[in-house]
Amino acid sequence: MSEQRRIPQHVAIIMDGNGRWAELRGLERHQGHAAGVEPVRAALRAAARHGVQVLTLYAFSTENWGRPAPEVDALMELFCQCVVSEAPELVRQGVRVRMIGQRERFSEKVRTALEQIERQTAGGRTLTLVLALNYSSRSEITRAVQRIARRVADKEIRPEEICESTITENLDTAPYPDPDLIIRTSGEQRLSNFLLWQASYAEFWFPEVLWPDFTEETFDQAIEEYARRDRRFGLVTK
Ligand code: FPP
Repeated sequence: MSEQRRIPQHVAIIMDGNGRWAELRGLERHQGHAAGVEPVRAALRAAARHGVQVLTLYAFSTENWGRPAPEVDALMELFCQCVVSEAPELVRQGVRVRMIGQRERFSEKVRTALEQIERQTAGGRTLTLVLALNYSSRSEITRAVQRIARRVADKEIRPEEICESTITENLDTAPYPDPDLIIRTSGEQRLSNFLLWQASYAEFWFPEVLWPDFTEETFDQAIEEYARRDRRFGLVTK
């Protein structure tokens, strides 16, 4: 395997364990989320250092709206604060921020903050940070099917012309390659409605560490683990 192929082009992370981290310390759950910001910075630094091109973070799922209102409100406030506090460093590092998921459900304040960070970082060329916000894979696939059905109804394409790439091109993730490596922290081993279509050939890594304890070294371990994997894509090893 060439050195190039040992580095995943796209890493996606399910940042899990903030609540447990807080509870273990007798803190409120929202304090666990606040402690989850520094690991985001660490993951970004490490991803850029390794030459990863796309880093996707599962920051808020469509199911997360069902959490207690104070926790949801605290998360929204945290996202808005981060836009202001992180923007200069993201621009300095050449990070371009984009999002997947449905932004319509967010308050105007959050939507404005997201548009602001996307605009401010639009020129970033080192790394694309994709934030999955109000995201779930089934909702994303459903919306893609609706778009394709409309094109069929409008006679732009025939049903038999629909192929895998038609679906890929209609997902929120259309501009990005499929994830090569998906990391979920906290020892849980499930996808929780994250990138179901895109994960077809992804490698998975499930470290025990809770997200607030995730460091650059944890990311380095993930890259080492990935380099040991034999990716065959349904073929045989040469
Ligand atoms: C899952 O842990 C984590 C979340 C739902 C929120 C993730 C948000 C951050 C890490 C904040 C910073 C992010 C950005 C993009 C600025 P959990 O609460 O489900 O943990 P638990 O399973 O231990 O309860």
